[in-house]
Amino acid sequence: MSFEFRILNFEFMENNILQIIYLIASVTFIAGLKFLGNPATARKGNLMAAFGMVIAIFGTIFLYTTETGAHLHNLGFIFAALAVGTVVGWIVAKKVQMTAMPEMVSLFNGMGGACAMLISIIEFKHLAEVDLSTVAAGHLLTIVLGLIIGSVSFAGSIIAWGKLSGNVKDKSLGMQQLINIGLLLVILVLSGVMILGNTAYTVELFYAVFALSLIYGVLFVLPIGGADMPVVISLLNSFTGVAAACGGFLYDNKVMLVGGILVGSAGTLLTIVMCKAMNRSLVNVLIGNFGGGATGEAMGSANFDGTIKEVTASDAAILMKYAKKVIIVPGYGLAVAQAQHIVHDLELLLEAEGIDVKYAIHPVAGRMPGHMNVLLAESNVSYDKLIEMEEVNPEFTTTDVVLVVGANDVVNPAAKTDPNSPIYGMPILDVENAANVIVNKRSMKAGYAGIENELFYKPKTSMLFGDAKKALTQLVSEIKALG
Ligand code: TAP
Repeated sequence: MSFEFRILNFEFMENNILQIIYLIASVTFIAGLKFLGNPATARKGNLMAAFGMVIAIFGTIFLYTTETGAHLHNLGFIFAALAVGTVVGWIVAKKVQMTAMPEMVSLFNGMGGACAMLISIIEFKHLAEVDLSTVAAGHLLTIVLGLIIGSVSFAGSIIAWGKLSGNVKDKSLGMQQLINIGLLLVILVLSGVMILGNTAYTVELFYAVFALSLIYGVLFVLPIGGADMPVVISLLNSFTGVAAACGGFLYDNKVMLVGGILVGSAGTLLTIVMCKAMNRSLVNVLIGNFGGGATGEAMGSANFDGTIKEVTASDAAILMKYAKKVIIVPGYGLAVAQAQHIVHDLELLLEAEGIDVKYAIHPVAGRMPGHMNVLLAESNVSYDKLIEMEEVNPEFTTTDVVLVVGANDVVNPAAKTDPNSPIYGMPILDVENAANVIVNKRSMKAGYAGIENELFYKPKTSMLFGDAKKALTQLVSEIKALG
């Protein structure tokens, strides 16, 4: 066997091993996503997909060969970047509060968009150095799509991150939607001219499209209401996936293509599911300017019939101890107070008394998809105790006590009764069908939607005021004291 043949053979083998690694990685992404669909297996799914990503990265670094047979160079830079990214990502993810998770997701998503954007810029520069007039339109189209979608996703995600962290306020220019549509049209026309026109200004057009896409990303997210940010983040996430898939096309890299398509489709599905849970269309989310992100004074005056009835922890304890069936409704306040462990203690205590205890999970309770599931999983609440809204709603009529902990909008009857309410049409938990409702929150302040809640004024409802952790701790000791 000649020396050259052996080298060729070795490259062939390396390439085959790399393709097998890509195949394994793609399978781990798909299986990981499947596992992520259930809280019991989500951790395993995450690790599995992360493993796939690690082998895909290291496989590419060590086994990828160019057409001329060269391996990747600049390994020093690559490993330095990997080390910095890993350390920063690890620390940020470890330190982040559960309530700040959407912010972090948004920032990380912005980085993905930036990657897709930079890939397009670098590949375009390579082509421009040779001869742009010989580049196939399809090739240029992939680069430009990656540039536009990546830039919009990057700029939009950074604004979403700023809004969620309170550093950027909702801001709508006059005729915002018209400006946005106009800008998008200009971007599309310039891209069309650049790809099909074969002009002498391809480079100038490319950078104009780049700048306008960044501006569009900012203007697209700036006017969207605070409460709708998670939907927008999910949408931007799907954009990043599509942009990454463009990179996969560009490099003929199957794992990048599969990963990008999975992120794109999962993000799109999540966006649809969230819109459905709030009973709103995507268009309404994008132009509705709903929810300012403030948990301040409620909008409108409290002219409901009925008065506020306060209950002490000891009276609430008696009511609960002698109940047969209790449903706990967790909301954003439970997360703020970090009361997930004490709520689990309460559940165990009541169960030891022979009481049937369940949790009612609203799909948009909290501030991120699956927020309540993640939170309660942290305190080892059994997954079969978490009952989804459709399933639990018919059960309230046979429930003695509902304990609402730091939830507000998801139990607001205005969603069904007041056509003028911003949450009208959103499916809610029908807690008022229970015999007694105890609501724990600190004050009469509004929830995310910024509106009054008639539930608090109903004769069946009693308010247990106080921070959720403190109030539940007191409730638990009062129940214990009853013997
Ligand atoms: P909210 O309607 O936001 O109400 C939470 C309540 O918790 C507040 O009224 C607050 O009242 C109370 N609270 C805050 N800190 C507390 C503490 N330490 N102890 C006890 N109570 C505390 O929450 P929700 O019912 O879960 O509804 C979620 C809302 O957020 C919906 O409008 C939803 O559309 C929106 N949203 C959802 C998502 C997703 S994907 N889950 C993302 C963004 C927005 P006090 O200040 O009086 O205590």
